[in-house]
Amino acid sequence: MQFFVSTAAPSKQRTDCAIVGVYDKGILSETAQALDKKIGGRISRLVKRGDLRGKAGDGVLLTDIEGAACERIYVIGLGARDGFKRKQYRKALASALGALARTGAKDAVSYLSLEEVGDSDAYILARTTTEVVGNAQYRIPDHKTANKRPKSALTRFGIAVSSRADRTHAERGIKHGQGIVAGMSLMRDLANQPANVCTPTYLSNAAKTLARDYRSIRVRILNEAECRRLKMGSFLSVTSGTEEPARLIVLEYFGAARSQAPTVLVGKGVTFDTGGISLKPPANMDEMKFDMSGAASVLGTFKAVAELGLPINLVGVVPACENMPSGRATKPGDIVKSMSGQTVEVLNTDAEGRLILCDALTYARRYDPDVVIDIATLTGACVIALGNHYSGLFSNDEQLSSALKAAGERADDRAWPMPIGEEYAEQLKSNFADFANVAGREGGAITAACFLAKFTEGLRWAHLDIAGTAYQGGSQKGSTGRPVPLLVDYLLTK
Ligand code: BES
Ligand code: MN
Ligand code: ZN
Repeated sequence: MQFFVSTAAPSKQRTDCAIVGVYDKGILSETAQALDKKIGGRISRLVKRGDLRGKAGDGVLLTDIEGAACERIYVIGLGARDGFKRKQYRKALASALGALARTGAKDAVSYLSLEEVGDSDAYILARTTTEVVGNAQYRIPDHKTANKRPKSALTRFGIAVSSRADRTHAERGIKHGQGIVAGMSLMRDLANQPANVCTPTYLSNAAKTLARDYRSIRVRILNEAECRRLKMGSFLSVTSGTEEPARLIVLEYFGAARSQAPTVLVGKGVTFDTGGISLKPPANMDEMKFDMSGAASVLGTFKAVAELGLPINLVGVVPACENMPSGRATKPGDIVKSMSGQTVEVLNTDAEGRLILCDALTYARRYDPDVVIDIATLTGACVIALGNHYSGLFSNDEQLSSALKAAGERADDRAWPMPIGEEYAEQLKSNFADFANVAGREGGAITAACFLAKFTEGLRWAHLDIAGTAYQGGSQKGSTGRPVPLLVDYLLTK
């Protein structure tokens, strides 16, 4: 998809489709009014007839336009004028795109970007538009041999602005939006693959491909023997039940002076989580192919950062393995020794994410990082607490926590701060080892974060629990690409 900025008046714009908005109760937006005058009142007539009410998401397609340079006009309902914010803007744009995809329009120009979007400027609107349009073009790498969803004819998309200054801001927004879309699409491609395709080796190859495609990215893949030499007993205990070889994937991106301490992203890469000997119930177990979403978000973020050439240093550490039951699998009650030297009683083999992350977090220390952020589909409890709207945000650093929260808001990829603390950590007490890997049902997302906190002392660290946000179930089943937008925004503003 090609994006461009347009300063042409809606009636003068040559395009296959001009997109304009109408608010609740049929109130035409300024651009709709301007266009309406030139085309003999066709839009206002629709309103008078009661055929166009401006309800959010309702739209009308006009063709055979006389009096304006466009081939078609799509009038999209925007809902109430005061309350029209980026969230409503995203929805309106998405439904206009849905309608457009059913036409033959090869290009379109959106005038919705000229609306007063309560919480936005030209930069963020252009970035958001690019993200919404780019994501609408996304197709799951499916394995269907027939009935493939057709690609829409759209190949060029214009974003209207009203001033020269806004053009510059919008162009920057488009660039950043394209980086975000590229990152999200990579994440989604990886996470949507079934676990018999997307194995730890497959993830390693995806990382190698990144290093081949971008000279700024280097990759090192550690095998199990190398992890054993590093004394990653906790990580290795999770992979012991499977035939599929585990990998520790290390990515490096240097866009700033080597002396500048890097941000390290650590991503949970469980390519399938059966629960191990603490086997999960069968319902929806297929969704545990998405348990490598944290890993996929790290690779996606690297893609976006390299694509944009950001002036930062970034390291990615991805422990990748399967969690399977077998004669060799770790058993409840087994005690393992982590790379940090701390011992863990594995009371539940289904709490495996923290067991692989803790060794990756210890590994991250060798980079003397400025900040460490881990990203993981870590707990069902986080989904109970926050649903599918906010990722859980845990941190031992106030400033880092607010920076990530703000990034999530700007990117419409929100995270909500959750507490951690000694009173919760106490629940991890073990009679046999330094601590256990589970702590009972209460506050499950928090005790999981407290487990990780035992490995991040002295680091500026944050943990994103994306169990509820990284993918959707049901008829829309698939990866969402979250939290790539949050992470990229954070790195853009760093
Ligand atoms: N991968 C799961 C967490 C998860 C659950 C992600 C549902 C997405 C949807 C994780 O490994 C897990 O199984 N966690 C357990 C922890 C428990 C045993 C303390 C859970 O949440 O039930
Ligand atoms: Mn599990
Ligand atoms: Zn898991």
